[in-house]
Amino acid sequence: MNRVKPVAADRLPALLRQMPKAELHIHIEGSLEPELIFAMARRNAVPLPYASVDALRSAYAFTNLQSFLDIYYAGASVLLEEQDFYDMAMAYFVRAAQDNIVHTELFFDPQTHTARGVAMETVVNGLHRACVDARAEFGISALLILCFLRHLSEEEAFETLEQALPFQSRIIGIGLDSGEVGNPPEKFARVFARCRELGFRLVAHAGEEGPPAYVWTALDVLKVERIDHGVQSSKDALLMQRLAQDRIALTVCPLSNLKLCVFPDLASHNLRELLDAGLAATVNSDDPAYFGGYLNENFTQTFAAGPLGAEHAYRLARNSFEASFIDEAAKARHVALLDETFASFE
Ligand code: ADE
Ligand code: ZN
Repeated sequence: MNRVKPVAADRLPALLRQMPKAELHIHIEGSLEPELIFAMARRNAVPLPYASVDALRSAYAFTNLQSFLDIYYAGASVLLEEQDFYDMAMAYFVRAAQDNIVHTELFFDPQTHTARGVAMETVVNGLHRACVDARAEFGISALLILCFLRHLSEEEAFETLEQALPFQSRIIGIGLDSGEVGNPPEKFARVFARCRELGFRLVAHAGEEGPPAYVWTALDVLKVERIDHGVQSSKDALLMQRLAQDRIALTVCPLSNLKLCVFPDLASHNLRELLDAGLAATVNSDDPAYFGGYLNENFTQTFAAGPLGAEHAYRLARNSFEASFIDEAAKARHVALLDETFASFE
Protein backbone atom coordinates (compact mmCIF):
# COMPACT_ATOMS: atom_id res chain seq x y z
CA MET A 1 0.00 0.00 0.00
CA ASN A 2 2.97 2.36 0.49
CA ARG A 3 3.06 3.44 -3.15
CA VAL A 4 -0.19 5.41 -2.59
CA LYS A 5 0.50 9.06 -1.82
CA PRO A 6 -1.54 10.65 0.96
CA VAL A 7 -4.58 12.67 -0.06
CA ALA A 8 -6.07 15.55 1.96
CA ALA A 9 -9.35 14.65 3.67
CA ASP A 10 -11.29 17.22 1.65
CA ARG A 11 -10.01 15.70 -1.64
CA LEU A 12 -10.79 12.09 -0.67
CA PRO A 13 -14.43 12.12 -1.89
CA ALA A 14 -13.24 13.25 -5.36
CA LEU A 15 -10.68 10.44 -5.47
CA LEU A 16 -13.29 7.88 -4.37
CA ARG A 17 -15.63 9.01 -7.13
CA GLN A 18 -12.98 9.19 -9.85
CA MET A 19 -11.21 5.91 -9.24
CA PRO A 20 -12.22 3.10 -11.60
CA LYS A 21 -13.88 0.25 -9.73
CA ALA A 22 -15.81 -3.01 -10.06
CA GLU A 23 -19.08 -3.74 -8.33
CA LEU A 24 -19.42 -7.42 -7.37
CA HIS A 25 -22.51 -7.39 -5.14
CA ILE A 26 -25.57 -5.75 -6.68
CA HIS A 27 -28.99 -7.46 -6.84
CA ILE A 28 -30.39 -6.06 -10.04
CA GLU A 29 -33.93 -6.26 -8.62
CA GLY A 30 -32.63 -4.09 -5.77
CA SER A 31 -31.79 -1.31 -8.24
CA LEU A 32 -35.49 -0.81 -9.14
CA GLU A 33 -36.27 2.75 -8.09
CA PRO A 34 -39.83 3.50 -6.87
CA GLU A 35 -40.50 5.62 -9.99
CA LEU A 36 -39.66 2.67 -12.24
CA ILE A 37 -41.72 0.29 -10.07
CA PHE A 38 -44.75 2.54 -10.53
CA ALA A 39 -44.15 3.01 -14.28
CA MET A 40 -43.90 -0.77 -14.80
CA ALA A 41 -46.92 -1.46 -12.55
CA ARG A 42 -48.94 0.90 -14.75
CA ARG A 43 -47.80 -0.51 -18.09
CA ASN A 44 -48.22 -4.13 -16.92
CA ALA A 45 -51.45 -3.52 -14.95
CA VAL A 46 -49.95 -5.00 -11.79
CA PRO A 47 -51.68 -3.78 -8.60
CA LEU A 48 -49.36 -2.36 -5.89
CA PRO A 49 -50.21 -2.13 -2.19
CA TYR A 50 -48.89 1.48 -2.13
CA ALA A 51 -50.80 4.57 -3.29
CA SER A 52 -47.81 6.54 -4.58
CA VAL A 53 -44.05 6.68 -5.08
CA ASP A 54 -43.79 8.64 -1.82
CA ALA A 55 -45.88 6.10 0.09
CA LEU A 56 -43.65 3.29 -1.20
CA ARG A 57 -40.47 5.19 -0.33
CA SER A 58 -41.70 5.91 3.17
CA ALA A 59 -42.13 2.15 3.71
CA TYR A 60 -38.33 1.82 3.38
CA ALA A 61 -37.69 1.78 7.13
CA PHE A 62 -36.19 -1.61 7.80
CA THR A 63 -35.39 -3.31 11.08
CA ASN A 64 -33.62 -6.40 9.70
CA LEU A 65 -33.07 -8.39 6.49
CA GLN A 66 -36.54 -9.99 6.42
CA SER A 67 -38.37 -6.66 6.82
CA PHE A 68 -36.52 -5.49 3.69
CA LEU A 69 -37.03 -8.71 1.70
CA ASP A 70 -40.84 -8.49 2.10
CA ILE A 71 -40.88 -5.10 0.32
CA TYR A 72 -38.15 -6.07 -2.16
CA TYR A 73 -40.14 -9.08 -3.43
CA ALA A 74 -43.30 -6.93 -3.68
CA GLY A 75 -41.34 -4.39 -5.78
CA ALA A 76 -40.05 -7.10 -8.13
CA SER A 77 -43.64 -8.25 -8.85
CA VAL A 78 -43.98 -5.54 -11.55
CA LEU A 79 -41.37 -7.26 -13.78
CA LEU A 80 -43.16 -9.29 -16.45
CA GLU A 81 -41.75 -8.68 -19.95
CA GLU A 82 -38.24 -9.00 -21.37
CA GLN A 83 -38.24 -5.21 -21.84
CA ASP A 84 -38.84 -4.72 -18.10
CA PHE A 85 -35.68 -6.67 -17.24
CA TYR A 86 -33.78 -4.74 -19.90
CA ASP A 87 -35.02 -1.34 -18.68
CA MET A 88 -34.21 -2.19 -15.05
CA ALA A 89 -30.65 -3.20 -15.89
CA MET A 90 -30.05 -0.25 -18.25
CA ALA A 91 -31.16 2.18 -15.52
CA TYR A 92 -28.52 0.61 -13.26
CA PHE A 93 -25.81 0.84 -15.96
CA VAL A 94 -26.50 4.57 -16.39
CA ARG A 95 -25.85 5.04 -12.65
CA ALA A 96 -22.87 2.69 -12.74
CA ALA A 97 -21.21 4.73 -15.49
CA GLN A 98 -21.63 7.91 -13.39
CA ASP A 99 -19.83 6.14 -10.53
CA ASN A 100 -16.88 5.10 -12.73
CA ILE A 101 -17.78 1.42 -12.47
CA VAL A 102 -15.93 -0.29 -15.32
CA HIS A 103 -16.93 -3.87 -14.51
CA THR A 104 -19.92 -5.31 -12.66
CA GLU A 105 -21.32 -8.72 -11.75
CA LEU A 106 -25.11 -8.64 -11.39
CA PHE A 107 -27.09 -10.97 -9.15
CA PHE A 108 -30.56 -11.92 -10.29
CA ASP A 109 -33.24 -13.96 -8.51
CA PRO A 110 -35.09 -15.99 -11.18
CA GLN A 111 -37.32 -17.82 -8.68
CA THR A 112 -38.94 -14.49 -7.77
CA HIS A 113 -40.08 -14.28 -11.38
CA THR A 114 -40.66 -17.89 -12.46
CA ALA A 115 -42.99 -18.33 -9.43
CA ARG A 116 -45.21 -15.64 -11.06
CA GLY A 117 -45.23 -17.39 -14.46
CA VAL A 118 -42.39 -15.39 -16.06
CA ALA A 119 -40.16 -17.65 -18.15
CA MET A 120 -36.44 -18.00 -17.35
CA GLU A 121 -35.81 -17.06 -21.00
CA THR A 122 -37.60 -13.70 -20.53
CA VAL A 123 -35.47 -12.85 -17.50
CA VAL A 124 -32.10 -13.92 -18.93
CA ASN A 125 -32.66 -12.45 -22.39
CA GLY A 126 -33.67 -9.03 -21.02
CA LEU A 127 -30.69 -8.86 -18.67
CA HIS A 128 -28.24 -10.21 -21.23
CA ARG A 129 -29.32 -7.69 -23.88
CA ALA A 130 -28.74 -4.88 -21.37
CA CYS A 131 -25.26 -6.27 -20.58
CA VAL A 132 -24.38 -6.22 -24.30
CA ASP A 133 -25.63 -2.63 -24.64
CA ALA A 134 -23.80 -1.52 -21.48
CA ARG A 135 -20.52 -2.53 -23.10
CA ALA A 136 -21.37 -0.67 -26.33
CA GLU A 137 -22.80 2.49 -24.71
CA PHE A 138 -20.72 2.88 -21.55
CA GLY A 139 -17.71 0.59 -21.99
CA ILE A 140 -18.85 -1.35 -18.90
CA SER A 141 -18.31 -5.12 -18.85
CA ALA A 142 -21.09 -7.00 -17.05
CA LEU A 143 -21.58 -10.64 -16.03
CA LEU A 144 -24.67 -12.38 -14.62
CA ILE A 145 -24.80 -14.47 -11.43
CA LEU A 146 -27.97 -16.49 -10.83
CA CYS A 147 -28.93 -16.70 -7.14
CA PHE A 148 -30.95 -19.46 -5.54
CA LEU A 149 -33.39 -18.26 -2.88
CA ARG A 150 -32.28 -19.97 0.32
CA HIS A 151 -35.71 -19.78 2.02
CA LEU A 152 -36.94 -22.21 -0.68
CA SER A 153 -35.95 -25.89 -0.90
CA GLU A 154 -32.89 -27.44 -2.52
CA GLU A 155 -35.26 -29.33 -4.83
CA GLU A 156 -36.59 -25.99 -6.11
CA ALA A 157 -33.01 -24.81 -6.63
CA PHE A 158 -32.37 -27.95 -8.75
CA GLU A 159 -35.48 -27.15 -10.85
CA THR A 160 -34.23 -23.58 -11.34
CA LEU A 161 -30.81 -24.86 -12.40
CA GLU A 162 -32.48 -27.14 -14.95
CA GLN A 163 -34.41 -24.16 -16.39
CA ALA A 164 -31.20 -22.09 -16.56
CA LEU A 165 -29.00 -24.65 -18.33
CA PRO A 166 -30.06 -23.66 -21.88
CA PHE A 167 -28.66 -20.19 -21.02
CA GLN A 168 -25.46 -21.31 -19.29
CA SER A 169 -23.27 -19.38 -21.73
CA ARG A 170 -24.90 -16.15 -20.47
CA ILE A 171 -24.49 -16.91 -16.74
CA ILE A 172 -21.01 -16.83 -15.20
CA GLY A 173 -21.89 -18.00 -11.74
CA ILE A 174 -24.29 -19.17 -9.05
CA GLY A 175 -25.03 -17.43 -5.75
CA LEU A 176 -27.23 -17.89 -2.70
CA ASP A 177 -29.38 -15.12 -1.20
CA SER A 178 -32.61 -14.25 0.69
CA GLY A 179 -33.30 -14.90 4.40
CA GLU A 180 -30.09 -16.21 5.91
CA VAL A 181 -30.77 -17.22 9.52
CA GLY A 182 -32.20 -20.77 9.64
CA ASN A 183 -31.15 -21.46 6.03
CA PRO A 184 -27.47 -22.43 6.28
CA PRO A 185 -25.32 -22.95 3.18
CA GLU A 186 -25.18 -26.74 3.69
CA LYS A 187 -28.92 -26.91 2.85
CA PHE A 188 -27.71 -26.44 -0.76
CA ALA A 189 -24.70 -28.78 -0.70
CA ARG A 190 -25.87 -31.07 -3.54
CA VAL A 191 -27.03 -28.39 -5.94
CA PHE A 192 -23.84 -26.35 -5.47
CA ALA A 193 -21.76 -29.50 -6.09
CA ARG A 194 -23.66 -29.98 -9.36
CA CYS A 195 -23.15 -26.31 -10.35
CA ARG A 196 -19.44 -26.73 -9.68
CA GLU A 197 -19.28 -29.80 -11.93
CA LEU A 198 -21.04 -27.78 -14.62
CA GLY A 199 -18.30 -25.12 -14.47
CA PHE A 200 -20.16 -22.24 -12.83
CA ARG A 201 -18.23 -19.85 -10.57
CA LEU A 202 -19.65 -19.99 -7.03
CA VAL A 203 -20.45 -17.33 -4.42
CA ALA A 204 -22.84 -17.19 -1.46
CA HIS A 205 -24.25 -14.67 1.01
CA ALA A 206 -22.94 -15.70 4.43
CA GLY A 207 -22.27 -13.86 7.69
CA GLU A 208 -24.60 -10.96 6.87
CA GLU A 209 -26.90 -11.64 9.85
CA GLY A 210 -25.95 -15.30 10.21
CA PRO A 211 -23.07 -16.65 12.34
CA PRO A 212 -19.43 -17.28 11.32
CA ALA A 213 -20.37 -20.99 11.11
CA TYR A 214 -22.29 -20.17 7.91
CA VAL A 215 -19.16 -18.62 6.39
CA TRP A 216 -17.20 -21.80 7.23
CA THR A 217 -19.80 -24.04 5.53
CA ALA A 218 -20.10 -21.72 2.53
CA LEU A 219 -16.33 -22.23 2.08
CA ASP A 220 -15.93 -25.88 3.05
CA VAL A 221 -19.25 -27.41 1.93
CA LEU A 222 -20.36 -25.19 -0.97
CA LYS A 223 -16.75 -24.39 -1.96
CA VAL A 224 -17.53 -20.81 -2.92
CA GLU A 225 -14.83 -18.46 -4.22
CA ARG A 226 -16.21 -15.27 -2.65
CA ILE A 227 -18.33 -14.52 0.40
CA ASP A 228 -21.10 -11.94 0.01
CA HIS A 229 -21.18 -9.70 3.10
CA GLY A 230 -19.19 -11.89 5.54
CA VAL A 231 -19.00 -9.07 8.10
CA GLN A 232 -19.84 -11.45 10.99
CA SER A 233 -16.51 -13.22 10.30
CA SER A 234 -14.72 -10.80 12.62
CA LYS A 235 -16.30 -12.68 15.54
CA ASP A 236 -14.11 -15.73 14.74
CA ALA A 237 -10.32 -15.24 14.77
CA LEU A 238 -9.61 -18.57 13.08
CA LEU A 239 -12.04 -17.75 10.27
CA MET A 240 -10.37 -14.36 9.77
CA GLN A 241 -7.02 -16.16 9.36
CA ARG A 242 -8.52 -18.58 6.86
CA LEU A 243 -10.10 -15.77 4.78
CA ALA A 244 -6.83 -13.81 4.76
CA GLN A 245 -4.64 -16.81 3.93
CA ASP A 246 -6.83 -18.03 1.07
CA ARG A 247 -7.48 -14.49 -0.26
CA ILE A 248 -11.24 -15.12 -0.15
CA ALA A 249 -12.87 -11.82 -1.09
CA LEU A 250 -15.70 -10.39 0.99
CA THR A 251 -18.21 -8.24 -0.90
CA VAL A 252 -19.08 -5.82 1.89
CA CYS A 253 -22.12 -3.50 1.59
CA PRO A 254 -21.86 -0.71 4.19
CA LEU A 255 -25.12 1.19 3.51
CA SER A 256 -27.04 -2.10 3.39
CA ASN A 257 -25.56 -3.09 6.76
CA LEU A 258 -26.58 0.30 8.14
CA LYS A 259 -30.15 0.20 6.78
CA LEU A 260 -30.71 -3.41 7.90
CA CYS A 261 -29.36 -2.62 11.38
CA VAL A 262 -26.36 -4.98 11.16
CA PHE A 263 -24.30 -2.08 12.57
CA PRO A 264 -25.83 0.85 14.51
CA ASP A 265 -23.89 3.44 12.46
CA LEU A 266 -21.15 3.60 9.82
CA ALA A 267 -18.56 4.66 12.40
CA SER A 268 -19.04 1.22 14.04
CA HIS A 269 -18.69 -0.68 10.75
CA ASN A 270 -15.85 -3.22 10.69
CA LEU A 271 -14.57 -2.58 7.13
CA ARG A 272 -11.29 -1.13 8.46
CA GLU A 273 -10.84 -4.11 10.80
CA LEU A 274 -11.31 -6.52 7.86
CA LEU A 275 -8.73 -4.65 5.76
CA ASP A 276 -6.26 -4.42 8.64
CA ALA A 277 -6.52 -8.20 9.12
CA GLY A 278 -5.40 -8.63 5.49
CA LEU A 279 -8.77 -9.66 4.06
CA ALA A 280 -9.66 -8.94 0.43
CA ALA A 281 -12.66 -6.76 1.28
CA THR A 282 -14.54 -4.82 -1.41
CA VAL A 283 -17.27 -2.16 -1.21
CA ASN A 284 -20.63 -2.70 -2.93
CA SER A 285 -24.19 -1.32 -2.96
CA ASP A 286 -26.30 -4.54 -2.56
CA ASP A 287 -29.77 -3.01 -3.24
CA PRO A 288 -29.06 0.66 -3.95
CA ALA A 289 -32.65 1.75 -4.65
CA TYR A 290 -33.63 0.59 -1.15
CA PHE A 291 -30.56 1.47 0.91
CA GLY A 292 -30.07 5.12 0.03
CA GLY A 293 -27.09 5.03 -2.27
CA TYR A 294 -25.26 3.61 -5.26
CA LEU A 295 -21.62 2.59 -5.14
CA ASN A 296 -19.93 5.98 -4.82
CA GLU A 297 -22.32 6.92 -2.02
CA ASN A 298 -21.27 3.73 -0.19
CA PHE A 299 -17.62 4.75 -0.55
CA THR A 300 -18.01 8.42 0.39
CA GLN A 301 -20.29 7.87 3.39
CA THR A 302 -18.14 5.03 4.76
CA PHE A 303 -14.91 7.01 4.39
CA ALA A 304 -16.53 10.12 5.93
CA ALA A 305 -17.51 8.05 8.99
CA GLY A 306 -14.35 6.12 9.65
CA PRO A 307 -10.56 6.11 9.79
CA LEU A 308 -9.98 5.29 6.13
CA GLY A 309 -7.63 7.02 3.71
CA ALA A 310 -6.32 6.93 0.14
CA GLU A 311 -4.38 3.68 0.68
CA HIS A 312 -7.62 1.95 1.76
CA ALA A 313 -9.43 3.35 -1.27
CA TYR A 314 -6.74 1.94 -3.53
CA ARG A 315 -6.82 -1.44 -1.80
CA LEU A 316 -10.63 -1.68 -2.03
CA ALA A 317 -10.70 -0.80 -5.74
CA ARG A 318 -7.82 -3.15 -6.50
CA ASN A 319 -9.51 -5.97 -4.56
CA SER A 320 -12.68 -5.41 -6.60
CA PHE A 321 -10.79 -6.18 -9.82
CA GLU A 322 -8.73 -9.03 -8.41
CA ALA A 323 -11.82 -10.76 -6.95
CA SER A 324 -13.85 -10.43 -10.15
CA PHE A 325 -14.55 -13.22 -12.63
CA ILE A 326 -12.85 -11.50 -15.60
CA ASP A 327 -9.69 -12.88 -17.18
CA GLU A 328 -6.20 -11.96 -15.95
CA ALA A 329 -5.46 -9.64 -18.89
CA ALA A 330 -8.62 -7.59 -18.23
CA LYS A 331 -7.77 -7.44 -14.51
CA ALA A 332 -4.28 -6.13 -15.36
CA ARG A 333 -5.75 -3.44 -17.66
CA HIS A 334 -8.12 -2.24 -14.93
CA VAL A 335 -5.38 -2.22 -12.28
CA ALA A 336 -3.10 -0.22 -14.63
CA LEU A 337 -5.85 2.38 -15.07
CA LEU A 338 -6.37 2.46 -11.30
CA ASP A 339 -2.61 3.03 -10.77
CA GLU A 340 -2.67 5.83 -13.33
CA THR A 341 -5.66 7.51 -11.62
CA PHE A 342 -3.90 7.48 -8.25
CA ALA A 343 -0.57 8.62 -9.69
CA SER A 344 -2.08 11.63 -11.46
CA PHE A 345 -4.57 12.63 -8.76
CA GLU A 346 -3.90 16.12 -7.38
N1 ADE B 1 -31.54 -10.25 -1.62
C1 ADE B 1 -31.40 -8.96 -1.96
N2 ADE B 1 -30.62 -8.33 -1.08
C2 ADE B 1 -30.24 -9.26 -0.16
C3 ADE B 1 -29.41 -9.23 0.98
N3 ADE B 1 -28.81 -8.12 1.40
N4 ADE B 1 -29.25 -10.37 1.67
C4 ADE B 1 -29.85 -11.49 1.28
N5 ADE B 1 -30.62 -11.58 0.21
C5 ADE B 1 -30.82 -10.47 -0.51
ZN1 ZN C 1 -26.89 -9.08 -1.22
